[in-house]
Amino acid sequence: MSQEKEGKPQRVRRVFTSIAFRYDLLNTLMTFGLHRNWRRSSIRLAGGMPKGGRGLDIGCGTGDYVCEMLVSSGGTARLTGVDFSREMLNVARRRFSGEIERGQVELVEADVTDLTFLPEASFDMVTAGFALRNLAEPGRALGEVFRVMKPGGAFVSVDVCRPFPVWLRPLAEFYLRFAVPALATLVAGRAGEYRWLHESLAVCPDRHELEGVLKDAGFTEVKQVLYGLGVVAGHLARRPC
Ligand SMILES: C[S@@+](CC[C@H](N)C(=O)[O-])C[C@H]1O[C@@H](n2cnc3c(N)ncnc32)[C@H](O)[C@@H]1O
Repeated sequence: MSQEKEGKPQRVRRVFTSIAFRYDLLNTLMTFGLHRNWRRSSIRLAGGMPKGGRGLDIGCGTGDYVCEMLVSSGGTARLTGVDFSREMLNVARRRFSGEIERGQVELVEADVTDLTFLPEASFDMVTAGFALRNLAEPGRALGEVFRVMKPGGAFVSVDVCRPFPVWLRPLAEFYLRFAVPALATLVAGRAGEYRWLHESLAVCPDRHELEGVLKDAGFTEVKQVLYGLGVVAGHLARRPC
């Protein structure tokens, strides 16, 4: 398929396929190493991963939220990661090879807007790290997430989200539009792919709209928390009991 004709899912898969080998390093450089704290904090604010609980990470990529859920549960949770980029999953497969062998972690190559292969009401926690912005149909994916969550289960997401604080807007725009692609060129030889970060912000729901999308999907106790001077939003929500 020519690049002009490809839709959002095809473009997103191509972007992450091409940067998978450097994704973790780029993420760390771009966020000054803070991205792990944001995921960890969002899980803690949702009450933590229950001991022996079941967790699902949508758009799991290389598995950072899988890792945080595992740590939060004291190494006792059973976890599923879903992503449609085989190359991103391959990095995660190397990282969790022991847990995969023991049947504690499973990684599934699939589109998160169709989770029909997962049973209803089966997860205590569902996470989405920098994933919702990449979805062509976030409402559809969140409807699926709602279906597979146990009543009382927690959904947590962190992502770059507009609107940015007014005082920071010019700097944040400059950083995302120019500095991030420049860094990606330096580290991975891929500027074009990281332009997606800036472009995707223009077409995804802002952090307030995202609250509405979560409520429309049936979630309650929808809350926001801001990280990274307000450039990154954490969203917390619960499937009602
Ligand atoms: C920015 S990466 C985030 C990876 C990881 N969650 C993290 O916190 O670093 C976004 C991931 O979402 C995946 N993704 C985007 N749209 C998807 C979809 N519709 N179905 C499955 N995976 C998707 C991409 O392949 C990519 O690995």
